[in-house]
Amino acid sequence: MSATAEKRAKAPASQPDCVSRMVEVAPLPAGAANRTEGLARELETGNILFLPRMPFPLSEEDRAFLLAQKQTDAGYHKNIAYRPAEDRLTGTGRMPARDAAKLKSILKAYSEWAAQFLSDRIPEYAGRWVRDFASYRPIEEKARKARLTARNDLAHVDAFPTRPTHGDRILRVFININPAKGRVWITSETFEGLAERFAREVGIPRAGAGGKVFGKMAKALGIRQWSRSPYDAFMLRFHDFLKENSLFQRDCIKQQWEFPPGSCWICYTDMVSHAVLSGQFALEQTFLVSRHAMALPEKSPIRILERICGHPLSN
Ligand code: SIN
Ligand code: FE
Repeated sequence: MSATAEKRAKAPASQPDCVSRMVEVAPLPAGAANRTEGLARELETGNILFLPRMPFPLSEEDRAFLLAQKQTDAGYHKNIAYRPAEDRLTGTGRMPARDAAKLKSILKAYSEWAAQFLSDRIPEYAGRWVRDFASYRPIEEKARKARLTARNDLAHVDAFPTRPTHGDRILRVFININPAKGRVWITSETFEGLAERFAREVGIPRAGAGGKVFGKMAKALGIRQWSRSPYDAFMLRFHDFLKENSLFQRDCIKQQWEFPPGSCWICYTDMVSHAVLSGQFALEQTFLVSRHAMALPEKSPIRILERICGHPLSN
């Protein structure tokens, strides 16, 4: 069993700068100061932090329980999510109450572990995020059926229709809990390169299509959480554009990675373009990190887009 994120296919020789690299993060020696210099910069540049060995203390009993939550024809157990703000589990369908309670306690522990881990290793981000949903992904991704723009086997950058970020960042912590099989991803160019090439085609938001008036009104009404800024509207269009663009999907640079059993990887999925080709049984926690906490603010998707547009896209 390989303990490294294996890169299977080489990118073309003419590979541009804007591609993702895998950055292995060493375990901390006992008694070491927690902080690891430079991790925020690696993430913000569009690289993927990789920990080869399971950093989350999951008991054998809990792992066996998770692995028993198989997909069913009825489609239940599809989008199992733990919502920390409400301390609530969703997406369990007809699962017996005792199982749902156990699943909730495991996902809650994972969610809290992920927050502690990031606080320890990247203290400049600590507390400067909203801890969004944690999810459990028990379905085999290979040949999974979904409508085109919901497919995760097509390269894309993430944008949430129901949770606009206003330029805050989407940081995700994954663990492959499959005992035998890797989770296989493809990454392509980062948002930086993709925006340069495609933003105009997607349609850059016009000045005044939100801006100050939008911001003042939204603030007054207390609706910032669920109202889309021009940035959010663009990112949703961009997400769909990439998935619907068959030429891009066919011809884009592809680096293929295999995350082995027990490994953990962390990246900004609004920056790293990604697709999952195969794999079953993963844990995931999403953080919406404040755009003001960035070590490299000019690398944020909102700042990249604002440079292209020449005007603010949120406030
Ligand atoms: C995605 O965000 O596209 C899914 C990634 C995964 O489940 O491995
Ligand atoms: Fe995604």
